[in-house]
Amino acid sequence: MKGIILAGGAGTRLYPISKIYSKQLTLIYDKPLIYYPLSILMLSGIKEILIISNEETIPQYKKLFGDGKHIGLSIEYVVQSAPNGIAESFILGDKFIGDDSVSLILGDNIFYGKLDFIYNAIKNNKGATVFGYQVTDPERYGIVEFDENGKAISLEEKPKMPKSNYAVPGFYVYDNEVVNISKNLKPSARGELEITDVNIEYLKKGKLNVEKIGRGVAWLDTGTPESLLQASHFFGVIEDRQGLKVACIEEIAYHMGFIDRKQFEKVISEIPKSLYREYLEKVLKND
Ligand code: TTP
Repeated sequence: MKGIILAGGAGTRLYPISKIYSKQLTLIYDKPLIYYPLSILMLSGIKEILIISNEETIPQYKKLFGDGKHIGLSIEYVVQSAPNGIAESFILGDKFIGDDSVSLILGDNIFYGKLDFIYNAIKNNKGATVFGYQVTDPERYGIVEFDENGKAISLEEKPKMPKSNYAVPGFYVYDNEVVNISKNLKPSARGELEITDVNIEYLKKGKLNVEKIGRGVAWLDTGTPESLLQASHFFGVIEDRQGLKVACIEEIAYHMGFIDRKQFEKVISEIPKSLYREYLEKVLKND
């Protein structure tokens, strides 16, 4: 299973910072936003990762993560010339995906809590697996409608009259067919290759599995100033209370066995003196 993080986009809702700065590099409490989706892929055991973004931002991601080897990953990068839609990921990622299956996470989506729904989807996926999460503002999202047996029967992108309040979050698992499906898509009225259209194709073939996510999981979508602030508060409270960091990629790499103790020590030694480094030293000491 390969992993893609789609981390470009226009970020218009964050103007004026979006004029000079990528949304996924903004700080969520104590680390850049992109650390959170990256950590989800890592916790799922995915080590081969493609980051897709615009030309100006890729050098910054490279500065942050390089080729990922120091944390046991293999990270590649591809440029998306314009925000042509989420489904373009699979066209741009064609070579990277090869014959494999693939999970896609949006660079501004954060999941927190019991993540078994993701781990199980990756382990058991046949066709496509996406999720349904109850929200109060369904008109902003791709919405899934279920029948009385809990089976998905329709999908609609940003409906004016939503048929349910189950939104499809930005984490998707696909078999290899997603590449061909994406290549055959036509842009929508807003000029994007829509991920909802990919999911509709799978639904038509009877190969779409939609799992509802319960209330024990937080799904944060950080596209607006308000939601960025909420996410920072959320993780600030959790980290301060427990003394444990969320989405600390070096710690995850060590605990997942992607790197051994020696490599972990080396990674720490290269981090400048900071609270972040002190935290990792504590992890090492207490292990
Ligand atoms: P959106 O939130 O739909 O869009 P955006 O980030 O461009 O923000 P705004 O609506 O304020 O203009 O994007 C969801 C995520 O997917 C986000 O992390 C950016 C990313 N994305 C791309 O990288 N390329 C794309 O073509 C699209 C549509 C989104």
